Amino acid sequence: MKPDPKDREAAAATILGALKEAAAPLSGEALAAQLGRSRAAIWKQINRLKALGYAIEGSPRRGYRLLGVPDKLLPPEITQGLKTRYFQGPIHHFETLPSTNDLAKELGSQGAPEGTLVVAESQTRGRGRLGREWESPPGVGLYASLLLRPELPPTELPQITLTTAVAVVRAVGRATGLALGIKWPNDLLVEGKKVGGILTEMETESDQIRYLVVGLGLNVNNREFPPPLNLTATSLALAAGATFHRPEILRAWLEEFEDLYELFLNRNFGRILEEWRQYNVTLGKKVTVRQGAREISGFALEVAGDGALLLRQRDGEVIRVTSGEIAPGPGMGPGGESL
Ligand code: BTN
Repeated sequence: MKPDPKDREAAAATILGALKEAAAPLSGEALAAQLGRSRAAIWKQINRLKALGYAIEGSPRRGYRLLGVPDKLLPPEITQGLKTRYFQGPIHHFETLPSTNDLAKELGSQGAPEGTLVVAESQTRGRGRLGREWESPPGVGLYASLLLRPELPPTELPQITLTTAVAVVRAVGRATGLALGIKWPNDLLVEGKKVGGILTEMETESDQIRYLVVGLGLNVNNREFPPPLNLTATSLALAAGATFHRPEILRAWLEEFEDLYELFLNRNFGRILEEWRQYNVTLGKKVTVRQGAREISGFALEVAGDGALLLRQRDGEVIRVTSGEIAPGPGMGPGGESL
């Protein structure tokens, strides 16, 4: 029988955990006893870890010692210590992909389960909202797409997107100590510049969501950005003056998102929205929303229960805006926030 890929991932992650914690080399026998597996199974997993790029010294008799961990978003690195209940993969990792969202959608239409995760070290055609390109240089960012199968109508999509953004703020705060802001609907900012974004895409069938892909792009360890992007974009590393372990941030996002997604499915979006409001940098300001060639200006009053932005016009009329992006306006910085 072919081993379940999830079991294989779990075994590799447990061995890795044991090797990371061990002060002295661990023998194949000790590992086998600790994990309740045969020595041959341990040896196979060690070889798999080596093939993934982990530097492991030793032999079954002398013992194994972990000398180095590759700076990659490898599945065992993500699952090791992951405390999610449902978002448990399978995880598909690639050196490069055109777009993680595209592959996740393909897997979604082939029937892949909820919790399937696609990650890449770089993207050649990373996509942002409104048809934009998402700069995806190798080895420094988080490019991840999570497949969900909520039994909901498509009108609930904006709420899921806002929920995702709240999860990112929580996760980044936990893993890096940085406090991100959210620009409506879901741009992630630090020091007034964009550090991440979310692209949610779905496939529907008879007015129900068939599957949903939540794509997260986060600039983590980037040290520079090509002009003119450098005027509006930054990274967690530039903001904090430190380098971060990308799998740890991804793990924190999966954990936070799972909690919030459960809250959302249990009809508690109001609580999530309350938290979104605390992180937002849009409300209470005069803003201009761009929708293609159309621009709507007004005072950002509130975000409605369905995720729409409520704008008060000069004549006092309040209008609902459901799509678009906040443009830099009078008194605004490059990211659209007040100077
Ligand atoms: C935005 O415009 O702010 C959203 C950016 C989303 C980028 C991510 S990177 C991972 C996933 N794959 C893509 O092609 N896009 C999303």
